[in-house]
Amino acid sequence: MPASILKSLSVGDSPLSCTQTHPVRTISQSHSRGREIILTQKLREQLHSREEQDRLITPAHPKTISHMADFGSNDTLSFSSSGVLRTAFLKELERHPNFTLGSRSTRIFEGTTQYLTDLEEYLAHFHGAESALFFNSGFDANVALWSTVPQPGDVVLYDQYVHASIHEGMRRGRAETQMFPHNDCAGLQQCLLNLREKHPGIAEGNQTVFIALESVYSMDADSPPIHRMIQLVKEILPRGNAVLSIDEAHSNGLLGPNGSGYACSLGLEKEFALRLHTCGKGLGATGGVILANKIIRSYIINYAKNVIFSTGPAFPVLAAVKAGYDLLASEEGETRRTRLQQNISYFHNKLTSHPHWSAIKQNGILTIPTEGTWATESFHAPIIPFNTRDGDANSLADRLHQAHYWVNPVHYPLVPKGQERVRLVLHADNTESQIDDILGVIMQWSMEQVRDSTRFDDTGWMQVACSI
Ligand SMILES: Cc1ncc(COP(=O)(O)O)c(C=O)c1O
Repeated sequence: MPASILKSLSVGDSPLSCTQTHPVRTISQSHSRGREIILTQKLREQLHSREEQDRLITPAHPKTISHMADFGSNDTLSFSSSGVLRTAFLKELERHPNFTLGSRSTRIFEGTTQYLTDLEEYLAHFHGAESALFFNSGFDANVALWSTVPQPGDVVLYDQYVHASIHEGMRRGRAETQMFPHNDCAGLQQCLLNLREKHPGIAEGNQTVFIALESVYSMDADSPPIHRMIQLVKEILPRGNAVLSIDEAHSNGLLGPNGSGYACSLGLEKEFALRLHTCGKGLGATGGVILANKIIRSYIINYAKNVIFSTGPAFPVLAAVKAGYDLLASEEGETRRTRLQQNISYFHNKLTSHPHWSAIKQNGILTIPTEGTWATESFHAPIIPFNTRDGDANSLADRLHQAHYWVNPVHYPLVPKGQERVRLVLHADNTESQIDDILGVIMQWSMEQVRDSTRFDDTGWMQVACSI
């Protein structure tokens, strides 16, 4: 597969070869073609280097995935794959037979349609917020938020593992940014104390400190110690100049009343001046929504370039989101949430009680960072990060693909160097027999690695013995 990507990138296949349609070429055209060739060579070299490190991204062919049981996608309630969302979507279309497909403009002109306005009001109400602002993706929503809202002189303190879209927004923004260690209350406390000491504006309450968190971290599947963090922020910055923000991409739809999310499940809506939900994961559709007060909403519309200079969301996207939210609030949604939690518990119990699991962990073949805290949590994230030894993630993923189970191996730069893993995701529609079977494959692969590493040790000892 990597070879095919590289081949399709070769100069002869590039659109530039279409210059044949212009028989008389100018010097400037030849020069620009020359530059393109050099560029293509440079790009090819970089792709090749990724390939050599076994981390070239080559999206699987849809036909390959369609034959496999889904243990990889973010469609955790199986809304999309089961077809229940399609049915709800078609009903929503029937309710609006005269819909205008495109929004026809940016939101600051004609693009804010009545349907979009109604949907945003519905979303604000659904999540217990003053107002909502919808985007075509969660990525866009984060970029709009973080590139505009923090002001010059403000500081954004962000958890080490926040999503790339938050980084992208901060990079384009005007505030100072600082990282604190993942889920680490002591680290957060130290950062807050330092800021208060070094920035008189912060100590006096004139400059704002934003604290950027996620409800469930997408690669590690853990949640922040939220009550302690809120308490720390209030203690250290008591003048109302701290803004807590939570990205609920991986909790939207999965917990809380009607699946309204993590903050709602804990009754903490008011503690977070900024909340962000995405619609492409548990909801099975696409899009992102910022929940905030009306001033923040209006500020983003006025200042975010990807709102002002981009066409507003099209009707089918909005209708799919509305259909998804209606499903979340229905009995079907509740049943699927319950079934998902049952599947996660079933998987976890079977895995951790497996007679080989201890040996596999002890030999460092596979580990799950959240295993230690699992028993104490009432909500369990559907993401199971199987951390592997360096170079092993592809091997385990390949074995699972051969057995017709779709999972994703994850490498740097998606995760830090030395932390590659197989990201397995459970779904409402996974069956117990699929779970038994996939665990069987994981155990068999792992025990082969245990045996190989033991054999290697034996050989090593034999070699040492012989050399003596
Ligand atoms: C925490 C978090 N925020 C934002 C996003 C981006 O959302 P979307 O896929 O809708 O662009 C993701 C997607 O992976 C995510 O995990």
